[in-house]
Amino acid sequence: MNDIQVKNLKKRFGDFDVLKDISIEIKSGEFLAILGPNGAGKSTLLKIMTTLLKHYEGKVEIFGYDIEKYPKKVREQIGVVSENFILYDRLTAMENMVFFGELYHLSRETALKRAEKLLKDVEMWEWRNKKVGKFSFGMKQRVNIVRALMNDPKVVFLDEPTASLDIKSALTVKRLLKEINASNKTIVFTTHILSEVEELATKIAILNLGQLVAFGAPAELSIMAEDQKDLIVEVEKNDSKNYKAFFDKSGIKLEMTGNTMKFFYSDGNELEKIIKLISESKIPVRSINSSDRNFDRIFLKLTDKGRDKN
Ligand SMILES: Nc1ncnc2c1ncn2[C@@H]1O[C@H](COP(=O)(O)OP(=O)(O)OP(=O)(O)O)[C@@H](O)[C@H]1O
Ligand SMILES: [Mg+2]
Repeated sequence: MNDIQVKNLKKRFGDFDVLKDISIEIKSGEFLAILGPNGAGKSTLLKIMTTLLKHYEGKVEIFGYDIEKYPKKVREQIGVVSENFILYDRLTAMENMVFFGELYHLSRETALKRAEKLLKDVEMWEWRNKKVGKFSFGMKQRVNIVRALMNDPKVVFLDEPTASLDIKSALTVKRLLKEINASNKTIVFTTHILSEVEELATKIAILNLGQLVAFGAPAELSIMAEDQKDLIVEVEKNDSKNYKAFFDKSGIKLEMTGNTMKFFYSDGNELEKIIKLISESKIPVRSINSSDRNFDRIFLKLTDKGRDKN
């Protein structure tokens, strides 16, 4: 059974279609990244999946429960980090954690134990007795994330969990998410940071103007985007153009700027051919670099494709 099943989901705000017929299935233990330009509908999709937003067409099931019919059952088993902090400024970090634990009917003892572990996980333990209202954005966000884990959820949803965090805090949060996922929990998150997607995601959904333009494992997306890898060759002098005719004859795609030549290839055979030709050309090579999968490129290509459809 899938942990999450979204079937033909449509959402309108007034006469504006924010989500257009979205269907996705997320298996247990998966790490799904939802990507898309600003306004694509990522937060809206997340809010619907987490029962925060209603009045949609289609169906969302979590652990087989229709979320509209059994919202309570679903909420007990998920953790939600939405766009806004869900914390009480007048309570300390620890009081917040215990309060949310008790909402989930944890005993005080369990709540205290879990809060200690989680606050330590995000390096907020030493701040546990300070009021959350006095925290910086990044400190609040770290507490806000672990607050969502107090019920030991099976699925965790996070809307841009690392946005505006400094490098160290972002690393701490990513490490925590990896740990949670390693314990076979499912994670669904949105982000604009593509390196994060590359590092964390086992599945990617790309939304564009409310449409799902791609859904699959990272490798499947690079095929979908007909992504080409490139080999960047820096030559000794600014004379790369002298070699252009030589390579053009071979039918290899390349771009030249100054003393840099960029060869494009899609598979190992093409790469072999390029390397052979470089060697035959006696071109004075200074360095060679290759880019394998490039998420920026894949993302732009797939979201551009989506735009064509509209
Ligand atoms: N409550 C609302 N009422 C009317 N329109 C809304 C509402 N919430 C969102 N929208 C619109 O729905 C569209 C999608 O918004 P959403 O917040 O889901 O985008 P997003 O992909 O999360 O964008 P971002 O990357 O900026 O966070 C936007 O055009 C937004 O203006
Ligand atoms: Mg958003």
